[in-house]
Amino acid sequence: MDKNFYITTPIYYPSGRPHMGHAYSSIIADFFARFKSIDDYNVHFLTGTDEHGLKIQRSAEKAGKKPKEFCDQISQTFKDLSKTLNLSNTDFIRTTENRHKKTVQHLWSLLEKNDDIYLSNYSGWYSVSDEAFYNEDEIEEIEGKKIAKSSKSNVEWIEEESYFFRLSKWQKPLLEFYEKNPDFILPESRKNEVISFVKSGLNDLSVSRKSFSWGIPVPNNKNHVIYVWLDALTNYLSALNYPDKDDDLFKKFWPATIHLIGKDILRFHAVYWPAFLLAAKIDLPKKVYGHGWILSGEEKMSKSKGNILDPLEIIKEYGLDPLRYYLIKEVSFGNDGNISQERLEDCINSDLANNYGNLCQRVTAFANKNCDGKIPLTIKFQEEDLLILNKFKDNLDNIRSKIDNQNINFYIDYIVSSLFEANKYFNDQEPWKKKDDQIRLNTIVYTTLEIVRKISLLLYPIIPESSLKVLNIFEIDEKKVELSSISDNEYLIKGKKLNKIDILFKKIEKKND
Ligand code: MSP
Repeated sequence: MDKNFYITTPIYYPSGRPHMGHAYSSIIADFFARFKSIDDYNVHFLTGTDEHGLKIQRSAEKAGKKPKEFCDQISQTFKDLSKTLNLSNTDFIRTTENRHKKTVQHLWSLLEKNDDIYLSNYSGWYSVSDEAFYNEDEIEEIEGKKIAKSSKSNVEWIEEESYFFRLSKWQKPLLEFYEKNPDFILPESRKNEVISFVKSGLNDLSVSRKSFSWGIPVPNNKNHVIYVWLDALTNYLSALNYPDKDDDLFKKFWPATIHLIGKDILRFHAVYWPAFLLAAKIDLPKKVYGHGWILSGEEKMSKSKGNILDPLEIIKEYGLDPLRYYLIKEVSFGNDGNISQERLEDCINSDLANNYGNLCQRVTAFANKNCDGKIPLTIKFQEEDLLILNKFKDNLDNIRSKIDNQNINFYIDYIVSSLFEANKYFNDQEPWKKKDDQIRLNTIVYTTLEIVRKISLLLYPIIPESSLKVLNIFEIDEKKVELSSISDNEYLIKGKKLNKIDILFKKIEKKND
């Protein structure tokens, strides 16, 4: 069985401060990476920054800096954000690195050798903000300004000599590929959009620019730089040291298991990228998943709209894990999701403080008083104990397959209902009334501690730091977090002292409470 898992985030433009949309893509990718790593996969998790092109060149000019100096500074803020978000990424790539430039130029040469690139002239609309070319029918005029219908960003007319990639030639092979690989583009609704776009006919794609210099030079023609999207997409290969044949990262991790991206950049990933790879005779990634947008007041959050919820400010106020939990739970995965501070506070209070935090506090406090602060030594399971414990084992394969289908909503609902059931079990069993039956009391405590352990394993990919704090009660550290151990109902070492746990999540006093 293939136990290698390669997941990527989009590489971010270092044109401004990271915002919640960036944090969202990264947190979701981290969720999948952590789930797979505790399920015994070799995980390669890549993120990074996309540093070339006119957009970055202009942002640098505005800041009065040289592009490289500007990128060094802002790329660092994205690197810092990866730490702040507690991402488990195994690499961080910058497209200004030599390892990347080498791969891009190699890929270009392959495309040229296979006659998929030719020199001609481009004239048409270009959006610097999207770094995308648009056809006449994709443009509209609002208040005298030409903008792209899809992104609402300004477009400008450009006319210059350009190399073209023979995208039109790949229309049929792409459609055949989508047909044979129905899970290549997800979610389903997005797949249909892409297929109808490809069916409507593909024009050859301009893949070089001559009027500015901030990019990777075209091999053998220094007057051109390579189009920033051909450059950027290649990061997924350059991070594996492709085409270095002696390096086994590529052998091990290519084709990528999943490129996780926002829906706005689906065309680049689901049409252009596979076409480049087909032309270069390189295997195609297994899946491209286009998630929805984080909205703030119904609009996509973006710098230009000024409606950015700053992830760093939210983390400072509420902590990281509440934000991770909230984004993963509240935004129905694949769809757009509205976020608000008020809902975040509700989520912290109800799910994290009341449901999870309370369960952990209650059972450990009870064990401290009634079991000498130890994991009970003598137990005897009854039917009702095994019923609740075995559910985890019985659902494990289902959970795995839901994750392989990116069904995060199922996963989180499963956790929330398990927490409810666990609290109900503890209440219904009334261990405080069993003081004259120590074995029954012990068994209820042991069962509840086992459930806490199992739920904490499931919560690890979402709120790693908090779940590790809970697992530390049993001296389970990160290296020992193994999903398969969820099936063991007597994993906890009987008679072992329980470590202390601090308050996990503080309840937030709401103004209208
Ligand atoms: N540099 C390109 C990606 C190249 S990948 C080879 C890019 N960068 S970006 O910084 O503009 O956006 C990166 C990702 O953040 C995109 O997937 C985009 O969808 C996502 N988000 C940006 N704003 C967003 C929201 N408001 N909500 C959710 N994600 C959004 O595009």
